[in-house]
Amino acid sequence: MLALEQQDLLESLFSRADIIRQKYVGNDVHLRGLIEFSNICRKNCRYCGIRSGNSQLKRYRMSIDDIVACAKLVKDYGYKTVVLQSGEDPFYSVDILVDLIQKIKQETNLAITLSIGERKREEYQQLFAAGADRFLLRFETSNLTLYQSLHPDSDFNQRIQCLIWLKEIGFQVGSGVMVGLPGQTLQDLAQDIIKFKELDLDMIGIGPYISHPDTPLAGSANGTVAMTLKVIALTRIVTRNTHIPATTALATLSPEDGREKALQAGANVVMPNITPIKYRELYDLYPNKTNETANSSHNYLREKITKIGRSISTDYGHSLKKFPQQ
Ligand code: 5AD
Ligand code: SF4
Repeated sequence: MLALEQQDLLESLFSRADIIRQKYVGNDVHLRGLIEFSNICRKNCRYCGIRSGNSQLKRYRMSIDDIVACAKLVKDYGYKTVVLQSGEDPFYSVDILVDLIQKIKQETNLAITLSIGERKREEYQQLFAAGADRFLLRFETSNLTLYQSLHPDSDFNQRIQCLIWLKEIGFQVGSGVMVGLPGQTLQDLAQDIIKFKELDLDMIGIGPYISHPDTPLAGSANGTVAMTLKVIALTRIVTRNTHIPATTALATLSPEDGREKALQAGANVVMPNITPIKYRELYDLYPNKTNETANSSHNYLREKITKIGRSISTDYGHSLKKFPQQ
């Protein structure tokens, strides 16, 4: 099905995914406010604009007070979840992160999702004990050879080990992949979807690969919107009750209607970017990451979501696997 190109068959695929989405996760779209709190990363993934080897980029770290203030803004917008994302930045020790998590919980009572990369099991344990609810860690591709060639300082098995630890500890766990990585085949993508199912994930992020000029993969072809939508639809059909975002990378390739198309092909989550404007362009994973301000994206997104007949969730949107009563 990943090879489908005929328009009427693609429409059948997307509408099937849409029906399954409606049946298993309902009409609501969950909004999660994203704060990109540091663009410093110890890793050197070959596709990523904030890789440690990119000396062109100005680096920043937000202070704990600034991050908490930003989380309050997330609450003021009416979102129920804050996603704290950064490069793998060792400056934020577990003690610092525990303090941050406790402050955000006390002051906002938001659900907290962490997206901060690989850590030791004990550290994940402490972050969960402090009140973090969810964790995102994409495995990026299930093709071992491709994984190793893209990640000079990572190990695929360690990545999967982290996901297993996170699940054992009690986090709601998200993972995901990029679509259209150089050298990636349809078979690899099919295997990615099987891996999502095997890992029994709560959340699955799927976005197109976008080539960045200041990386070793400069000039390689981007993933496509069409292939990304197929992977989203098939992931919905195979995994049923997971949370699947319409990703920023997809919206970047297709600013007009990328998000709506994803929401109508199986997705049920959107992650508005609430990072302060002065840092926004420095969190440069890939070029032209959509540059809506927190406010305009807020209004704009609500309008777009309701226009396609979807409602905006007013609850936490926790995992439907862990909390099936919702
Ligand atoms: N294109 C698309 N997505 C990217 N990411 C990192 N670099 C790129 C890129 N060039 C994604 C990775 C990572 C997430 C935070 O951003 O999948 O897990
Ligand atoms: Fe760091 Fe993540 Fe970028 Fe890899 S993909 S360089 S771990 S921010």
